[in-house]
Amino acid sequence: MNTTNSKPIGIFDSGIGGLTVFAQIQKLLPLENLIYLGDTARVPYGTKSQSTIERFALEDAHFLLQHDVKLIIAACNTVSALAMPYLKSHIHVPLLGVIEPAAVKACEETSTGRIGVIGTRATVESRAYEKAFSLLSPSANIFSAACPLFVNLVEENWTDEKETYSIAEKYLRPLKDRNIDTLILGCTHYPLLETVIQKIMGDSVRLIDSACSTALALKKILAEENLTGTQSGGSPQFFVTDEPERFQSAGEKFLGKRIPKVQKAALEMEERTFP
Ligand code: DGL
Repeated sequence: MNTTNSKPIGIFDSGIGGLTVFAQIQKLLPLENLIYLGDTARVPYGTKSQSTIERFALEDAHFLLQHDVKLIIAACNTVSALAMPYLKSHIHVPLLGVIEPAAVKACEETSTGRIGVIGTRATVESRAYEKAFSLLSPSANIFSAACPLFVNLVEENWTDEKETYSIAEKYLRPLKDRNIDTLILGCTHYPLLETVIQKIMGDSVRLIDSACSTALALKKILAEENLTGTQSGGSPQFFVTDEPERFQSAGEKFLGKRIPKVQKAALEMEERTFP
């Protein structure tokens, strides 16, 4: 076992939503040391252009590399959909996104091959899930829908209001009409709306949460790369680019447990020329 195994795993998201992925990793891999970065100063990413998302994602990854991480998880669907090739060409540690693990799980779960995907506008327009399925299961029928207001509803903690049901009904109706049997929650925030979404879609539709699938994929990669940690070095570290106190209180609600300390991160801005 070399010292690389004891290095932390870096997890980043545009904000608080990646805590869904963080929580599953902590549960499945308690011996790993975790560093979380939420880019709260620049959330949301899901409404931004590809080049902006790439630039933000690289700055987030560089911050984690400064903390000597052994592997980076882009816990944000929008980053995973639009910035993985760019990130891969710029960083030297293994990188894991959330799209492929969720697509693999959906292929395992579906019986009819009719699969729905919901996500931010940027994720849906990128067609990243369709591309993943074209390799994994070319015969699958994929139906996607952007649900941009879901992120705000979760941020407001409106996870069980009547307004949330009517917005969800409007977004999800077209997918329900397609008779899907599996639905990927393709955004970090959506697992928090699971009850609403399940009620609208009905019990016959299986919901796939990318957080659980990503934690399982991480476990496999760590074993393959001989990077599995063997000893937890203590509490995870949390960094945000703005409003640490707000993240701390919202994060505690999100995780259902105390976050002792959230530090402010200063990201180094990339020099990038645009045509
Ligand atoms: N983290 C983003 C995602 O999973 C949702 C929030 C945002 O738009 O930045 O797509």
